[in-house]
Amino acid sequence: MKKEWWKEAFGYQIYIRSFFDGNDDGIGDLPGIIEKLEYIKKLGVDLIWICPFYESPMDDNGYDVSDFYSVSKDYGTIGDIRTLIQRAHRLNIRVVIDLVLNHTSDEHPWFKESRKSRDNPYRDYYIWQKPRYKDNVRIEPTNWASFFGGSCWEYEALTDEYYMKIFSKKMPDLNWKNPKVIDEIVKMATWWCEMGVDGFRIDAVSHLAKADFVDSTQYPDQEFKPEWGKFSNLPKLHDYLKILNERVFSKYDIVTIGEVGGNAPVKDGVNFTLPENQELDMVFNFDHNWCNNGWGAKSGSQLSTDVKRLKEVFNKWQKGLFGQGWNAIYWLNHDQPRLVSQYGDPEHYHVESAKMLATALYFMWGTPFIYNGEEIGMSNPEFKSIEDFRDVSTITQFHINVERYHQDPAEYIAAASFSSRDNARSLMQWRDAENGGFSKAKPWNIIGDFHKINVESQIHDPDSIFSFYRKIIQLRKDSPYKDVIIYGKYDQILADHPQIYGYIREYENKRILVLANLLAKPTALGNLPYRTKTIILSNYIRKQVPDIMKPFEAMVLELEEDK
Ligand code: NOJ
Repeated sequence: MKKEWWKEAFGYQIYIRSFFDGNDDGIGDLPGIIEKLEYIKKLGVDLIWICPFYESPMDDNGYDVSDFYSVSKDYGTIGDIRTLIQRAHRLNIRVVIDLVLNHTSDEHPWFKESRKSRDNPYRDYYIWQKPRYKDNVRIEPTNWASFFGGSCWEYEALTDEYYMKIFSKKMPDLNWKNPKVIDEIVKMATWWCEMGVDGFRIDAVSHLAKADFVDSTQYPDQEFKPEWGKFSNLPKLHDYLKILNERVFSKYDIVTIGEVGGNAPVKDGVNFTLPENQELDMVFNFDHNWCNNGWGAKSGSQLSTDVKRLKEVFNKWQKGLFGQGWNAIYWLNHDQPRLVSQYGDPEHYHVESAKMLATALYFMWGTPFIYNGEEIGMSNPEFKSIEDFRDVSTITQFHINVERYHQDPAEYIAAASFSSRDNARSLMQWRDAENGGFSKAKPWNIIGDFHKINVESQIHDPDSIFSFYRKIIQLRKDSPYKDVIIYGKYDQILADHPQIYGYIREYENKRILVLANLLAKPTALGNLPYRTKTIILSNYIRKQVPDIMKPFEAMVLELEEDK
């Protein structure tokens, strides 16, 4: 397998708005990230992915870009991004930025032109369709749903047409069939490469190609049909990626990471990342994000992990891509709840479950990404009413569900409290001080329990979650186990065990075994046919492999060569 710097990197995702406020206006920003580079260095990661900081009306916190070439005044200046890249590079930290290619803001000058008239030169930068009529009533061009609720079409009376918006109505979809759009994107991505960024996390990349505009016949009970396959991972997308690769990516020593969640079966993951296909370097998939009863639960306390599914999903991606393409490994990002609340137990086994989850994931192969706050085990904050939420998706769906479909608001809030994206966007908990040390001004968003969980209390404690993450990063970056963790073959063991996720990694003559009890109850391990050479890591104090694994117990062992 070819060695590459980005296969050996350890990533850290920064949700800029919530990370650290450098100028005390209540909003996280680029100077804030610059100030915390030493912290990032201490953790040991060597790559950061920063969520969008472009000019934007902030309908979707920056994923609605109104100018790809400038920085939002909320976040700083172009000078700040230059300084950030320079300082990060001095610390041997690479900088990956978000590239938003599926849509722009409706306040982008292209869309402002596009919506003016049907014959505007920018009309075809976006996707416009005529209305349909049913019993003389105007209806959308198709019955497809939007990810953020309602239809994926928005009507414009001025020109009597609908534009497509698979996210919010302030985020019209770009028309990738138009070569001029592709030229603009090539120009913009090149500009950022020249600025010195080390790569792109490509937002919503699955959705660039759309199917023919024919109604979905699925989901008979729903007004707008969430058949995401109508605009996800369609064959034409591969052509677009090949063009971007040829005209931009291949010209620079950068990494490209596609967000291809939704319905991206492993074979798509392979197609996107096979080196000879010349599309992307790696993908983020979503298959493991909701392996619990999250869609049925009424409150966070009812959540329970679907161990079987989680193990199957991990195994499917680890086996399916190995030796072919490349994968990014991560637990959750800014679009999901906090990790310990989702799959651990912040109340009873906070430290144990956080360490177990890190162990279970970060010894798989693939480029790892920690989501900011995960390294100290941040949990979901407490929401009391819809006023506590900021996420456009959560708020849009609240209005649709409560006003249009008459859902009980309290029921909606209870579910959103454990499922909303705002959980991950809660402020970074730096200290047990005002606003968790995030800002001296009134912050833009909610914060979790910073008295209990914060960076300051963990950074010097050798037993903290933070120190455990550091150890894992060191093992991957600089230890005798580096190659086996990064390039070793993966094989699952104990596939049918109801609680333990176990796998072996093997490279040349080294073998390591990872065992993780995914649940809050003890479980018998049974006799394993391996002889342990060393215990590399464990979250309970252990001198040998136990018969019974404790709640959320995890270990990494080096095995003797003979079986
Ligand atoms: C995926 C991003 O991760 C999410 O936060 C955003 O809302 C959508 N893409 C739209 O850009």
